[in-house]
Amino acid sequence: MNFIVQKAEIKNAIDIALLHKKEIPTGFISSLNLKVVKKLYESIITNEIIFVLENESTIVGFVSCAKNTGILYKKFIKKNLFAVAPYFVLKVFSFSFIKKIFETLTAPKKTKLDNEEIPELLSIVIDSNQQAKGLGKLLLDELENKLVEDKIKKYKVVAGDNLISANKFYNKYGFTLSAQTELHKGAISNIYTKILLNND
Ligand SMILES: CC(C)(COP(=O)(O)OP(=O)(O)OC[C@H]1O[C@@H](n2cnc3c(N)ncnc32)[C@H](O)[C@@H]1OP(=O)(O)O)[C@@H](O)C(=O)NCCC(=O)NCCS
Repeated sequence: MNFIVQKAEIKNAIDIALLHKKEIPTGFISSLNLKVVKKLYESIITNEIIFVLENESTIVGFVSCAKNTGILYKKFIKKNLFAVAPYFVLKVFSFSFIKKIFETLTAPKKTKLDNEEIPELLSIVIDSNQQAKGLGKLLLDELENKLVEDKIKKYKVVAGDNLISANKFYNKYGFTLSAQTELHKGAISNIYTKILLNND
């Protein structure tokens, strides 16, 4: 099989959104309307770092990373409020939905380590029928090459403690568990960091 890693393009946003919803079905982003998730990925493709893994022109994986997650969400809401508002109309009456929005928007503050803002791996996903073949590592290497090129010394990732494959993956590939937090009530999230470049 012929796997190719490349920078995501705007036209890939819909496939990335579909893959996100399929492989991370429990997260807040997956509870959003597909069009909103697509818009969010268009914004990440335009402003942040995102690589896709293609097999015979089909997207089977992606990795996304933000230089500053708080700013990413703020910019997204500012720019897309009117475009996404219609998809929230019915959900506005749901207390748990409002709570999840609040928890998501306050997450960047809660996952800040030592008051330091560092880039964050937002999501890494490989289609379930291609997992555990070294493809996630292929995407991680591509992301880290780019971060090193940009002189990033350290970055982080936040993973729900219940995501077994993800936690094993980060532990295996050099991340250190730096803290734990309760982003969503009753659900522990692990904050991992990885050093890419030493200070000297
Ligand atoms: C996490 C993920 C991206 C890893 O990609 P991958 O291509 O499967 O992983 P690789 O083949 O490169 O690396 C293999 C390692 O990943 C971990 N792993 C991958 N799939 C696993 C599974 N089903 N169960 C347990 N660990 C798994 C293990 O540490 C494994 O090494 P090991 O076999 O020596 O234990 C992928 O499994 C995935 O998409 N999971 C679902 C989505 C998700 O939870 N994403 C992270 C949220 S941010």
